[in-house]
Amino acid sequence: MIGLGTVGGGVAKLLRDEADLYAQRTGRRIELRRVLVRNAAKARASGLVEPDKVTDDPGAVVAGDDIDMVIEVAGGIDPVRAFVARALENGKHVVTANKSLLAAHGPALFATARQHNVSIAFEASCGGGIPCVTALTCGLMANRMDGLYGILNGTCNYILTEMTAGGKTYEQALKEAQDAGFAEADPTLDVSGADAAQKLAILASLAFGVKIEGDDVHAVGVDGLDLKDIAFGDELGFDVKLLAIAERWPGEKWVNVGVQPCFIKKDELLAQVKGPFNALSVHGHAVGHTLYYGQGAGQMPTASAVVSDLLGVVSGWAPAAFSNLNLTPDLTEPAPLLDRADTESAYYLRMETLDEPGVMAKVTSILGGKGISLSTVLQHESKAGEVVSLVVTTHMTRLGDVEEAAKEIAALGPIQGEPVIIRVIEMPA
Ligand code: NDP
Ligand code: HSE
Repeated sequence: MIGLGTVGGGVAKLLRDEADLYAQRTGRRIELRRVLVRNAAKARASGLVEPDKVTDDPGAVVAGDDIDMVIEVAGGIDPVRAFVARALENGKHVVTANKSLLAAHGPALFATARQHNVSIAFEASCGGGIPCVTALTCGLMANRMDGLYGILNGTCNYILTEMTAGGKTYEQALKEAQDAGFAEADPTLDVSGADAAQKLAILASLAFGVKIEGDDVHAVGVDGLDLKDIAFGDELGFDVKLLAIAERWPGEKWVNVGVQPCFIKKDELLAQVKGPFNALSVHGHAVGHTLYYGQGAGQMPTASAVVSDLLGVVSGWAPAAFSNLNLTPDLTEPAPLLDRADTESAYYLRMETLDEPGVMAKVTSILGGKGISLSTVLQHESKAGEVVSLVVTTHMTRLGDVEEAAKEIAALGPIQGEPVIIRVIEMPA
């Protein structure tokens, strides 16, 4: 195993405590032979791994003759990419929880695995303990997928839950997520939306059968969210969620992938997903709507996915699926990505304006001029001359038109700063 931190500690614990169960299930006894860490001298939780198995020599793990499989739970891209490539070249199956690595270099690593007749299993890279990779690549294989709507980052969902229901500040909630071990070593990956974008790239590649890289996913995080918008959303009957969305659109350019804070009606199932829990809503043309829910981060849920992959390799079904099915993005074409401006949705716009005569007329005239139809308008009582928030929500409209209208609105004299735009999700039936 490479890594003995939050997830590695959970994997070691399962392999120690459930050795008999796994031997009974697979007919094979699994032995954790060696663990590569950055600093072998660091004190470790006692009883998890014998100290003489902990090493800082990569070759002892990725090239060891007595090792059949390498579990990578270290994280990051370099030097881990080279460790994984060496393990594959040395004929070792790899199980990884590393979405950064797969979103950036998945196709090359999958191709290396194929060349050397071994496999890569990566359930834990998306959705922690939820078997959503297996659902897409196995249970739903009969379907043409129409859309994925996911809460894929536990840290962001925890922060949003604690800020809305728990009355905590952004900083308090982020610190708690770090202390609980959900957050990445660099938490800006979580709060910027990058972590969810990496997971969406992996899941959407599998679901749509095209190659999508992390950089193809437009990502906006929770770090720029204003409490004011959360409060207005609440008043309008919405919860805010960081949603990772992959949609199929009609036409030649049909893939839209993005991560952003969205408003969602409070009675939708995804709105009920709280704290570090994740959920993935998958729409397939034959099955209709399915929903996968569970702990998307944390030590034991993630270790559950890693060890289940390991047992899948031991039993032979994971390598067979890897080598016999054309699922992974080393075998598929680059995605025909739709220009975001051409996607359509309902939107929420908040403008800060001096409370002067005629502002509303000018704003609605700009929106009407772009063919944007309004669904609701909201302004609280204010005193003449004060700055007040003016909130509107739209019916389905082209994003490019909303962004152009927002620029024209920002140029009006009484308007202060740029309007805030938040997507309002209407979930497919
Ligand atoms: P931690 O930071 O807790 O642990 C990382 C471990 O990897 C440490 O033991 C560290 O060694 C070791 N390590 C890091 N870099 C190197 C290196 N260059 N060479 C050798 N060892 C190295 O991370 P997590 O356990 O939280 O995450 C691990 C992976 O799992 C990441 O890819 C993450 O994205 C993914 N993941 C994490 C989840 C979570 O809830 N935490 C959920 C789902 C996926 P040392 O101890 O010496 O510092
Ligand atoms: N940092 C990630 C999260 C861990 O918060 O969801 C799980 O991938």
